[in-house]
This record gives sequence, C-alpha cells and structure tokens, in this order.
Amino acid sequence: MSIFKSHITAMAAYKPPLSGRDANQFVLLDFNERTIPVSHEIKQALIDFIHSDRLQQYPNYGDITDQLAHYCGVESDQLVITNGSDHGIELTIRGTCCAGDEVIIPDPTFAIYAQVAKTEDLIIHSPQYTKDGGYPLQNVLALINEKTRLIVAANPNNPCGTPISFEAIKTLAEAAPNAAILVDECYFEYSKDTAKALISEFENIVITRTFSKTWGIPSLRFGYILTAQSNVDALLAMRGPYDINQMAVVAATAALENPEYTQDYVREIMEESKPLLESFLTQKNIEFWPSVANYLLVLFDDCSGVKDALFNAGILVRPRKDNTGKDGLRVTVGTLEQTRRLIAVLEDTLSQ
Ligand SMILES: Cc1ncc(COP(=O)(O)O)c(C=O)c1O
Repeated sequence: MSIFKSHITAMAAYKPPLSGRDANQFVLLDFNERTIPVSHEIKQALIDFIHSDRLQQYPNYGDITDQLAHYCGVESDQLVITNGSDHGIELTIRGTCCAGDEVIIPDPTFAIYAQVAKTEDLIIHSPQYTKDGGYPLQNVLALINEKTRLIVAANPNNPCGTPISFEAIKTLAEAAPNAAILVDECYFEYSKDTAKALISEFENIVITRTFSKTWGIPSLRFGYILTAQSNVDALLAMRGPYDINQMAVVAATAALENPEYTQDYVREIMEESKPLLESFLTQKNIEFWPSVANYLLVLFDDCSGVKDALFNAGILVRPRKDNTGKDGLRVTVGTLEQTRRLIAVLEDTLSQ
C-alpha cells in the first residue's frame, strides 16, 4: 500500500509537452511565452549577483514587495511574492478548501487549477466557456451553494484568451462571500484589465500574477498575489520563508527598473502583430476565439495537418480543444517578424 493518500496515488503528474523545445531550431509559439530573450539589464543583474558571491547565503528579498506594490498601485501589506503564479494558485486553493468542498472551475482552462483541486480531494464543477458567451457567469452563479469554497475567474482565460468583466468578478464576490474568488491575472500586462480595485472592498478576492509571460522569466519562477491585507498572514504562514529563488528576485527587480523593454514588446504584440494575424485569419474565414491576451485559439479544419506543416517549417504551436471538444491550435503571438513568417507558412499550407 502506498504511503500517499489514495486520491493522490490515483492521479497522474501534469506533464506539459516540453520535449524538443529548442529555441535555436523552432519559433516557440506553443507556451504563451515571450518569444524574444530578456533585456541586457536582466542578464547583467544576474551575472552581477553571481559575482557578488552571495550564492551561499539564504535568500533575502529586500524591498521587492514594496517595489511591486508600487508597480501595482496597492499597499505593500496587500501583496505576497510567490514562486510563479502556479505557487499562488496552489497556496490559495490549499489554504481555503478542505477535502469534500466544492470548487467551480470553468472549462476549458489552465490545467493547474484542477490538478491542485484534485490533490486536495475537492469536488470540481466545470461549467463551459463558449466562444460567443465567454465566461459562463450564469452557470457559475447557479452552481454556488454552502459548500462552494473557491471559484476560478481566469482573466483572461487560457487557452481561449476570454476576458471576464470587472462587474462579473464583483458579482461573484458578492454571490459567494464565503468562497475565494481566484482571479488569475497571468496575462495582465497584455490585457491591462485588473480586479485590483476590488481587493480593499472584498476579502474573498485573491489575484495571482506572474513574471513568466510579458516579463519573460518563466525559467526563474516569480509571481505574486494581490489580496486583502487580512489574508496576507495566512498566505505567509503557508508559504516557506525561502520559497522564492533569490535569482528570480534579482531578475524581477531589474525588469521593474527597466519596464520599457517589456512595454515595447507588449505594444508590438498587441498593437501590430496580433491584429495582423487576426486579420489574416478573418480573411481566410478561419474561426478563432476572441482573445485579449497574446495568444489565439484557432479552429483550423485540419488542426493536425496545420500543426505538422508548421512543425516542418520550424514553428511550434499547442493543440488544445475548445468547449465542444473540437480540435484547435493555441497559437502564441510573437513579434511582427515571427507573425509574418507564421502567416507565410499558413498561406502556403492552406492553399495546398
Ligand atoms: C492562466 C495561467 N495561469 C497561470 C500560469 C502559470 O504561470 P507561472 O509560470 O507564473 O506559474 C499560466 C501558464 O501558462 C497560465 O496560462
């Protein structure tokens, strides 16, 4: 018999398809990452840290919380740094739900919410997003009962890029005052949409954010939570004192001190590259979900053929199904140059 709980031994690891992802060989449009390297300033800060001979010391996070609070426009005691936003999601679910509690996780969505919920032996309800209706607010509201402990509101959602409005998040917070409303703002710098103004009013709102996407350091694992000050001690009680790597803090500090590099990238993606790809798809009558993020869920007629053709041309994308089970490809939007290359390959493939 396993020493582990039976509901955990019944589970499988979440294994993202990482093999063969070589940026020298492929344009990586499969993980919603930044598609160009980080700035010189971040690299230099990491090199300087190594040469400062402090690797043998435990992390000391200094004033990163204050710096981030300033960036976010919240108080420092409304913010907790985490080891990526997966860590924030995990702390929130583990800290608010007991085995047998109910959680509402609209689907299709990012796999980690359900993965963590399963490790905690929670009952998961999954109302479906729709391409035209977006976040299934009415279905979520109808599922709320006295056992509901957490509701996921990914803003925007992955894989479809669907936003949820500020008013809808407020409605959820009011309708389920005893449940955590987990607002995942992983792609905040792309969508520019945030529920941050609600955290002073609603104690049950927990916002997770990350430096993995726009800021470009998923390898280093750095994220943070924005929530009511009254929740911060509980989160800190669960989080280890050294859970965040010192190198991640060094890189995040350098990124925050040089925001233009990230802002320019976001501008190119959202104002030039994404509209170009959307207009190409529209012209070709190819269906895709409306998205406020740096990726599109595209419903090609022959997704597997398109994926193979892109692969052969050196471009990786990620197969994801829509709410009806129909095959789609989630395509990360890269730079203008990368998007032009993607369009050229699609043009060629679709005309065959
Ligand atoms: C919606 C969403 N939330 C969270 C994450 C995880 O981000 P992190 O690298 O900060 O753990 C991802 C990563 O793809 C995501 O798409």
